[in-house]
Amino acid sequence: MANILEKTNLSFQKLDAVSEAGVQTLFDELFRVADGELLDVGSTDELETFRVRWVGRNNSVKSRVQENWLKLAPAEAKKWVGSSFNICFRKLEENLNSKKATLQTSGAVGRIDLSLPGVTRPIGTRHLISQTYEELYRIFNSIGFSIVEGAEIETPYYNFEALNIPEHHPARDNMDTFYISNAPGYLLRTHTSPMQVRTMEKQKPPVRIVVPGKVYRRDNPDATHSFMFHQLEGLAVDTDITFCDFKGTIEYFAQQFFGPQTRVRLRPSYFPFTEPSAEFDASCHVCGGSGCRTCKYSGWIELFGAGMVDPAVYGFVDYDAKRLSGFAFGLGVDRLAMLKYGIDDLQQFFRNDTRFLRQFP
Ligand code: FA5
Repeated sequence: MANILEKTNLSFQKLDAVSEAGVQTLFDELFRVADGELLDVGSTDELETFRVRWVGRNNSVKSRVQENWLKLAPAEAKKWVGSSFNICFRKLEENLNSKKATLQTSGAVGRIDLSLPGVTRPIGTRHLISQTYEELYRIFNSIGFSIVEGAEIETPYYNFEALNIPEHHPARDNMDTFYISNAPGYLLRTHTSPMQVRTMEKQKPPVRIVVPGKVYRRDNPDATHSFMFHQLEGLAVDTDITFCDFKGTIEYFAQQFFGPQTRVRLRPSYFPFTEPSAEFDASCHVCGGSGCRTCKYSGWIELFGAGMVDPAVYGFVDYDAKRLSGFAFGLGVDRLAMLKYGIDDLQQFFRNDTRFLRQFP
């Protein structure tokens, strides 16, 4: 008996099975043989030979089946011969296409030249502000300060009132505030000092914390100002803390951060939540105090505001002002980084210019 491929040369009338089921069986057999051959195809060249042989335009199995079986089938059989024909060759062409995709992919893998040099992807660096924070944590951790974080959205009570800055106090003008218009009663904190109050509310003395974080003010951006910048708050409260402890702590910080030759000095200042208040200056790390462009020829660089905690603040957190004393400070981290790394424009921190950032790996 002729095999299925030989049968494709016979006219429909000469096929043994001319019923619908018989024709279906013939097409099933044809598909099984074709698919089996396709499985053995191992290259794109072999696949092309297979394609020409099975479904090519001239003298392929498909074209013979079309001429001999489909066209010569009697009118009443044409519908089901046509349907089986379409199903069989559509499936075969689908399988052929997926085989083609598989061969192309594996061919591409096979073409990789492992001796070529690799592609070097640029590796990012930690942002200089993050690096500065890490340095600050290291310094303050080493003398017993722990890190506490707080929310950037605050209430006027914690940002101002509980820090002894009542409504209409002129100190509020120095911190032109972003109020949140669709959340009345909330603002973007203008400093990290609210966390002094929040911490003392929750924690009994002694307290020794630093608070890192972003703060916001309606300041116009320039070389030393931004509307969003970074602070590190410090707070130490205990029964016997004196101004000398305060100065010693700041001196230790400045020497660790800027180098052992650094000296510090205090200038009187004013903050409603500290009494007395001071601005701390460090001797210029560039010229050592003799005067240069960086320190505007004064020999000193202003570091931050600070002071002994005003007893009025203890009243807001139920601390015994007669028994306790402490100091607090608020560092501008962006300005510290500028000083330490000789950066003349604070805006550089926020431009995401990789040429700048890559200089500080
Ligand atoms: C304060 O924010 C006080 N909370 C600091 C403080 C804390 C005093 C605890 C006493 C006790 P001041 O407004 O001076 O203070 O800001 C502190 C530092 O933030 C400044 O010394 C400066 O380094 C930095 N700073 C202030 N405004 C800006 C700004 N717009 N852009 C960048 N840095 C700023």
